Amino acid sequence: MLLDVGSRSGRYGIHIEPGVAARVSGLLDGARLPKRRFLMSNATVWRFHEQPFAVLTPEEPILLPDGERHKNLQTVGRVYDALIRSHADRASAIVAIGGGVLGDTAGFAAATYLRGIPVVQIPTTLLAQVDSAIGGKVGVNHAQGKNLIGAFHPPALVVVDPTLLSTLPRREFRAGLYEVIKYGVIASRPLFDRVAASLPALFKRDPDALMAIVSESCRIKASVVEQDERETGLRRTLNFGHTAGHALEAVTKYRRFRHGEAVGLGMLVAAEIAVARGTMPAPDRDALAALVAKMGPLPAVADLPVAETLEAIAHDKKVVAGQLHYVLPTSIGECEVVADVTKDEIASALRSIGMTSA
Ligand SMILES: NC(=O)c1ccc[n+]([C@@H]2O[C@H](COP(=O)([O-])OP(=O)(O)OC[C@H]3O[C@@H](n4cnc5c(N)ncnc54)[C@H](O)[C@@H]3O)[C@@H](O)[C@H]2O)c1
Ligand SMILES: [Zn+2]
Repeated sequence: MLLDVGSRSGRYGIHIEPGVAARVSGLLDGARLPKRRFLMSNATVWRFHEQPFAVLTPEEPILLPDGERHKNLQTVGRVYDALIRSHADRASAIVAIGGGVLGDTAGFAAATYLRGIPVVQIPTTLLAQVDSAIGGKVGVNHAQGKNLIGAFHPPALVVVDPTLLSTLPRREFRAGLYEVIKYGVIASRPLFDRVAASLPALFKRDPDALMAIVSESCRIKASVVEQDERETGLRRTLNFGHTAGHALEAVTKYRRFRHGEAVGLGMLVAAEIAVARGTMPAPDRDALAALVAKMGPLPAVADLPVAETLEAIAHDKKVVAGQLHYVLPTSIGECEVVADVTKDEIASALRSIGMTSA
């Protein structure tokens, strides 16, 4: 399957298919990418998936340190060093093979090296395949906060091979599935139902089951970012589950939850708010809660302080001029963005998901 996405720097293709990684050389040629290619990955991913990528270039891959704590300017500096050492010029392209951390870091290096050289995204985590590799947001963290330094640098090409997910640790895989459920809730009841119906096949990493949900998620993300690349309206809906989710990550210093797990809880919080307001039918909230429960237990929240979590929400990067835009589902498959959610509403929703301390 091929999706064609319009962006401010031209159109790019997203090729999604089990086994497509084996054809990546032809896809790069077809996308008229510069002949000099620099592969970027990390040791974890490279150990599993050196084949079929090593053939793309005679040069050694640039392997970046693995882990969110290395998604910073120091790592970007190491990328510049390696590119300069190899005399990478404007007729060069970066091929980023890895999860969201690798893609964001390599993408930011590509956005800034020589004021920008093309980047090809080859995502290898479920989260990266359905989310971070699409849309052109790249960047790194600062000691003061996540993703504070970044750029828009749409990829020249995205290659999504669901079979690469066979080696992904179960917890990482699950974390990505919450983002898939997110797309279902905001935009597609059929996607939501499909995840619910095919969980065992998905956890077995069945290529056909994966293809169905990955391609539909990519289609939704691509369509949203094409219509609103700069996040002034529609793109905000992708933040469903992320307002409380980010706050939960922040109050636990990013140590307790995988991002997707916090989003799983954040979706429940948003659904509670919507049901309490009467803007979402309770059975839809129950369906979401049932699917999240079916995915397995999430890290504990009982000990987390409500007041501090509210504080973190108020400081979210997405608060513009004091206005918090909250994405609330109106049913499974539809949502709205509202600007008048009060602290009290959020506090009671946080309690409803099990937070007990003040
Ligand atoms: N740019 C965007 O629009 C956007 C959107 C969402 C998230 N993000 C960013 O994405 C990052 C999270 O990405 P992530 O969840 O992919 O985490 P990650 O990149 O840290 O990957 C998780 C772990 O899985 C390993 N891994 C990757 N592919 C593997 C494979 N096929 N087999 C075995 N192990 C594999 C990685 O090396 C890592 O250890 C965050 O930094 C977040 O800010 C960016
Ligand atoms: Zn997310």
